Amino acid sequence: MKKGAYLLLIAAVSALGGLLFGYDTGVINGAQFYLTEHFGLSDALKGWVVGSALLGCFVGAIVAGPLSIKIGRKWSLIISAILFTLSAYGSGLPELFPQSVSMLVFFRILGGLGIGIASMNAPMYIAEIAPTNIRGRMVTYYQLAIVIGFFVVFLATYFIGTTLTLEENIAFGWRRMFWSELIPSISFLVLLFVVPKSPRWLALKGKDDEALAILKRINGNELALKEILLIKDSLQETKQNIKVNYFSKSILAIIVIGTVLSVLQQFTGINAVLYYGADIFEKALGFGKEDVLAQQILLAFVNLVFTFVAMFTVDKFGRKPLLYIGSVGMIIGFLLLGVTLQQQQVGMLSLIGVLLFIASFALSMGPVVWVLLSEMFPNKIRSLAMSVAVSAQWAANYMVSQSFPVVMGSETNVQAPWNGSLPYFIFIAFILVIVFVTYKFIPETKGKSLEEIEGFWN
Ligand code: GLC
Repeated sequence: MKKGAYLLLIAAVSALGGLLFGYDTGVINGAQFYLTEHFGLSDALKGWVVGSALLGCFVGAIVAGPLSIKIGRKWSLIISAILFTLSAYGSGLPELFPQSVSMLVFFRILGGLGIGIASMNAPMYIAEIAPTNIRGRMVTYYQLAIVIGFFVVFLATYFIGTTLTLEENIAFGWRRMFWSELIPSISFLVLLFVVPKSPRWLALKGKDDEALAILKRINGNELALKEILLIKDSLQETKQNIKVNYFSKSILAIIVIGTVLSVLQQFTGINAVLYYGADIFEKALGFGKEDVLAQQILLAFVNLVFTFVAMFTVDKFGRKPLLYIGSVGMIIGFLLLGVTLQQQQVGMLSLIGVLLFIASFALSMGPVVWVLLSEMFPNKIRSLAMSVAVSAQWAANYMVSQSFPVVMGSETNVQAPWNGSLPYFIFIAFILVIVFVTYKFIPETKGKSLEEIEGFWN
């Protein structure tokens, strides 16, 4: 296979892995309206149906570390694709199953496990196989795909929701929403059988010849020979069976920095905006219920467009400049929204604030965190370190999305604190922390090979 075709295949894997991430976490937004009615769910049960997948993601990301060492990145992704497929099929099963919510929750958790495994393996796999000079862009494909997943699923939900009658939606429309996921999940599964294994994983397993052969196809002979030497060098200790000491100061420090960054990505509030976009638009901006699904599509669209900005600049400008620019934009966006809410002057400015926030996240924290996580850890600890950082990210996601409605005050009828603006000021505080962490602890990794980045930490 030619180099170009190879890279395209790998990009496609990243694309589908990401697409399923966005699709599967986004599908519940639209579906929840109807399945709540279908099953007659209480608020608490609804929270559980929505949140259960995230819990699955958390567990999946934990399991993913040891799994990807043992069976490799490629086979871990294959398992995640199988889980996705089972989950999509099962969540959408018609009346074959007893109409029990627990079956639905079971299948949602299964899908969550799949996302958790893929969310850590897909970017890692891409970073380990991509040529250095375009590594940032290739990992950004992954984020682009997540965002496309959100966009497509909002469109699909909107489409299904508006073409069926309300009764049909409640009876089976929401099942179709889940079933539509089968298309990307089966494509993902099939495609995974033709892509190569990660050369860095092969080297970790002592299969240097196989690793070299793959590197040659991707980078050409000369570069491949250089790379394999560097990889071998970085794996020295592992090869001599010297156990990695995860509690040594330097290794612990890298893992902590990665995990903090990963968690902070969630504390920007991105998923509160994406998951509760409908609520925000309805309650804060005073839109009617009919417009809400359409507004969500707008959010997802802005998210999509601005991810392209990152794609074309991340290897040119570097990771850190994007983080700075994005943070400023996110802060201004939330200030606009927060202040207008607090002053009860909600209107156009508030909407501009939300969109500015999304756009700024899309060109910075969204993709750049995935890029950095996939490249900042040394070869010998990458799997486990990513697993820690990514599972912490899912836990943070769960925390933010479960507590947001409470902090916003949407679940009580009494006057919300600060007129519902409190969460946005909390998010701003966290974004300031991001600026500090980036300045103080994050190395610029643009244009450096994974092994050169290891050198930085030494
Ligand atoms: C990032 C985050 C994910 C979020 C997405 C939105 O990928 O990790 O949680 O949903 O961006 O664009």
